[in-house]
Parts: sequence; structure tokens; C-alpha cells
Amino acid sequence: MSERERMKVVISLGGIFFSDVEKIKKIAAVFDELAQLNNLCVVTGGGEGAREYIKLARELGANEVFCDYIGIALTRINAKLLISALKNVYPEPFLDYKEAALAKANDSGKIAVMGGVSPGYTTDAVAAILAEYLDADLLVNVTSVDGIYGADPRKYPNARKYDKLSPKELVALTMKEELKAGSRIVIDPVAAKIIERSGIKTIVIDGSNPRNIVDAVHGKHQGTEIL
Ligand code: UTP
Repeated sequence: MSERERMKVVISLGGIFFSDVEKIKKIAAVFDELAQLNNLCVVTGGGEGAREYIKLARELGANEVFCDYIGIALTRINAKLLISALKNVYPEPFLDYKEAALAKANDSGKIAVMGGVSPGYTTDAVAAILAEYLDADLLVNVTSVDGIYGADPRKYPNARKYDKLSPKELVALTMKEELKAGSRIVIDPVAAKIIERSGIKTIVIDGSNPRNIVDAVHGKHQGTEIL
């Protein structure tokens, strides 16, 4: 790209970034900056709030689909928090892919934000499906670990970090994971299968320093690249 075209970028933002106002403000400022040069969509995770409510519902006897719907509600609350902090943004979270795609058909420069859509997967898969639907140039998964590891690095400090993975390798790694409501996985297996079938370039990065997100969109990162 010479006169750099606006890239279509979809970001999956982990729910962990909704734990305090300063974090949300810093990330929102980075998204407003990125939206000046890129056509941007952000999908928000549910974080601890979702896990807490899912745990309560499960203890009360709710089944997994019901728990998933509770998770979806919390991801949409976080979407509203992010919208509150953004400047150039559609005023409500989109509830499904078609709504978001129709709004994005003409690039108005406004950021589209959405949470979860349907039971059985997480917002990583929502972001992957949206990215495939929009023919996005890049999918960025912003999380609290600095990439994809062979095992959870918080439990296994010697786990191997992958700088690059093929979509096939990603699918093999994620298929080992459990897909219960609220489970803690870096990328869910449904997202991995969508990434595999669409071939969309995907980067998994640590968003603790929100500037990492800008660098990643500009091609510099220290996370894991799936291509
Ligand atoms: P998240 O997308 O936040 O799960 O959705 P996550 O990726 O494990 O967590 P963080 O936020 O990145 O740490 C929370 C829960 O909401 C339900 C699932 O139960 C999920 O675990 N969910 C979310 C759905 O069922 N469908 C969706 O489309 C999104």
C-alpha cells in the first residue's frame, strides 16, 4: 500500500480491560487514534463480571446455554462502557453481524462496537466471524498474555510461546480446551476454525500497554502471528 489505504481491522478486546476507568480511557484513546487511519470494529469480552454471574447462575441450576446468554449480556454491558469512552462511535452495540456489516458498508470513520452474539462460543469467535464477513485485512486479539503458549503460562511458567502458528496448528492447540460458559482460554476453538477457513491474518497480543495495539496494526508486535 503506497498512499496507505484504510485497512479493515477487527479487534477482540478481552474483558480484563474493563476492570477500571483509567484502563478503559487509555484503550478508548488508542481506538479513536486507530480509527483515523483504519476502518475499525471492536468486539468486547465479558471479563470477571461475566464469570461471576455465570458461576452464580450455574450454582442456581442454570444450564450452559443459559449461562452463555448471561455471558453475552455482560459482554454487551462492556460494549456500552467502551462506547461511553469513545469519541467517534456508533451509539449502541451491534447485536448481530449483519447489522454491523450494513453500518460498515460505507466507511463513515465511526467505530462499530459489539459484544457476544450466540451461545456456544466466545467473543473471540464473534470477532473472527465479523472479520470474515467484512473481509477484514487484520484480526487482532488483545488479551492479558503476550501471545499463544503451548499451556497456560500463568500455571506453567516453562510453557513454550509461539511467535508464529499456522491456522492448522492453532486449531490443534485450541481443540484441547474445554468450551464451558465463562471458561478461560486465549482463543476459543470456534474462533480457531473460523480463522483457519477464512485465512484471515490474526495477531494475538498483550494489551496491558495499549500502545501495543497501535504497533500491532502497523505491523510491529511481540505476540503470536497466525498466518
Ligand atoms: P468472553 O468472550 O468474554 O469469554 O465471553 P472469554 O474470551 O473466555 O473471556 P475474556 O473476557 O476474553 O477474558 C464470556 C462468556 O460469554 C458467553 C460464553 O459463556 C463466554 O464464556 N458468550 C460470549 C457466548 O456464549 N457467546 C458469545 O457470542 C459471546
